[in-house]
This record gives sequence, structure tokens and C-alpha cells, in this order.
Amino acid sequence: MKGRTARQPHFKTHMGDIMDYLMLVDKLSAVPDGFEKTITLEEVGGKLLESQACRQCRLLLKDAERDGIKIKVLSAYRSCDYQQLLWEKSISQRMGRGMSYSDAVNDTSRTLAKSGHSEHNCGLAVDFATPSAVDTEDDFYTTPQGRWLCRNAHKYGFILRYPRMKEHYTGYDYEPWHYRYVGSEAAEFIKKSGLCLEEFLHFYSENFI
Ligand code: DAL
Ligand code: ZN
Repeated sequence: MKGRTARQPHFKTHMGDIMDYLMLVDKLSAVPDGFEKTITLEEVGGKLLESQACRQCRLLLKDAERDGIKIKVLSAYRSCDYQQLLWEKSISQRMGRGMSYSDAVNDTSRTLAKSGHSEHNCGLAVDFATPSAVDTEDDFYTTPQGRWLCRNAHKYGFILRYPRMKEHYTGYDYEPWHYRYVGSEAAEFIKKSGLCLEEFLHFYSENFI
């Protein structure tokens, strides 16, 4: 998408740095250098998440449970080193199954970000799952957990980050498990408009500064 404009971030972190919950991190935009040092991470479901996103995630999990839905936090903050490890593991698994290096890279990059280009590296993304899951679930959208999140996550400031039919904007296959914290106001708007984050930032971000 052309015409990405520089935006003014609008939240302060504990260190007095500016925290931008609408920060774009994708295949073209990396997490800024040194960003990890500016955020406070807190624990939710045994994983770490940026503090405000974390508080909202705790609330989300509590309310889901009150509705009889237990949701697992499968992955949240990941260091760049860990992201690199996941990347290398995925490439070697695919090559072990007979893929060429370039096919393995192409296939991996459909659902995994390179180190420094993942929203998990900035502590604003969560992969949710059903309680017994040990990995992401392709059919998560059919589960009570996936359906509850689809209906409610925006109320807590989270959006389904990689929706169906938006692959050409996001660069990733549909990921029914990956939610991104953007703040409640933007999340409500994104949910109602049906836009993905790239489209939203392109057309509307100025209204949310
Ligand atoms: N699965 C998403 C794209 C990530 O690795 O951040
Ligand atoms: Zn994810």
C-alpha cells in the first residue's frame, strides 16, 4: 500500500518514552531499534505482554471465563532472538521435508514474521488457543474460544490482525488466533469498518491521534 504517512505517537510509557499502540509492524515496517527497552512487560496466562495490553487481556480472559469460555494464552511477547529461533526451526523443518531453501522461506513467511518484524517482538500481540492446545489451531475460528474472541476482543482493544481476504494488505495468511492490541477506540472502529490495520492506518489514523 502506498502513501504511508508518519504518525505522531500518543501514549507515554513508564520511562516517559512515547508508546504508540497503533504502531505498524509488518513485513515492511520493523520494530524500532531499542523499542524493547522502552516497554514494561507484565504476566498474563504465563506469558508476558506490554503492561496496558496485559491489563486488558486479563480482563478479556476473566470476562470470557465468566461466560463459560476458558481461553489459553499460547504466545505473547517474544524476544527477537526467540523469533529468529522460530524462523530457523521452521525453515529447517520444511527443508527436512524436501523443500528447497527458497520454497521453505516463502512458505514460512506466510505465517511467521522475520525477527524484528513481528508484533510479538513489541509485546502487543497474543496468540490465543483452546485450553489443551500446544500449537496454533487452524480451525480456532470454529471453537467457542475463537467465536467468543471474534465477537468480543475489540471491546478490550484487541483486533484480529490477519483476517481472511486481507492477505494482500497484511502479507500473512488468515490467522484466527493472532490478536493485536491497538486500544479500545481504534479496535471498535476497525471491527465495525471491517478494515485491516494497514487500511485503517492509511485512511483513518489521523482521527485517532
Ligand atoms: N505469525 C505472525 C505473523 C508473527 O510471527 O508475528
Ligand atoms: Zn501471533
